[in-house]
Amino acid sequence: MVLNWQKKERLVEPYSKLAFIYDDVMSHVNYETWANYVSRIIEKWNPGARNLIDIACGTGSFLNQCRRYSYNLSGFDFSFDSIRMARKKGLELPFWVGDVRKFALKKTVDVIVCLYDSINYIMSLEQICEVFSSVYQALNSNGLFIFDICTERNSIKYFDNFFDENSGIGYNYTRHSSYDKTNKIHKNLFTINFHNSDEIYIEDHRQRIYYISELLDSIDKTEFEFISAFDDFSFSKASEKSIRVHFVLKKE
Ligand SMILES: C[S@@+](CC[C@H](N)C(=O)[O-])C[C@H]1O[C@@H](n2cnc3c(N)ncnc32)[C@H](O)[C@@H]1O
Repeated sequence: MVLNWQKKERLVEPYSKLAFIYDDVMSHVNYETWANYVSRIIEKWNPGARNLIDIACGTGSFLNQCRRYSYNLSGFDFSFDSIRMARKKGLELPFWVGDVRKFALKKTVDVIVCLYDSINYIMSLEQICEVFSSVYQALNSNGLFIFDICTERNSIKYFDNFFDENSGIGYNYTRHSSYDKTNKIHKNLFTINFHNSDEIYIEDHRQRIYYISELLDSIDKTEFEFISAFDDFSFSKASEKSIRVHFVLKKE
């Protein structure tokens, strides 16, 4: 057995190791509340919706909570290991590996969601426009695209030079968060130590922080109808003071 101080550090792809402990790391997140909020949005703006795809679904926790509603569900994610963990849950839903910037569906759907600041992993507005375009093509008419961002206020207030450490069965990890205001990059550096491994894994997660106004400008260039940008799980208008902003777009 290799002692911690003897272990070599290795930089690995985001979510390639975090995926295995992601549900523990996210145990503070109430996915039931997320599912309830999204279902209320759907009821208001596309009540006849039958099917929903979660693009950037992670380990499938949101979809798991959506099973209480009567949608046909499926999801994909860029991270092979997250999809592996989602499949392991035995939810019996279609899960596959894919990229939100470039995807096409065999059959169009009524609702597409991209949640928990997954969009912040898209590093430029040009690429965000690619997401909009793929999503638009993949939706039925009256279809909704629901996504959220975390704001600069969130990065500055809670995560600028924030340090966190935690442990679970067979592992411990640290997370160091920082915010580069000049380049608008929110960084989370994870150091993950599985007790049965000879290596310590480093994951360098970078998220781009967007202002609401610049996303609105990009949405303006699409054929989507902009329904609203809501403040933190509410139906009130968001602002740059919001911590999380939920966007709702509709394909007319
Ligand atoms: C903060 S996690 C959120 C996961 C999930 N939506 C949830 O709520 O638990 C961000 C997710 O975005 C995924 N992701 C990042 N870039 C992506 C891309 N280009 N295409 C698909 N998924 C992507 C990551 O692999 C990760 O699973």
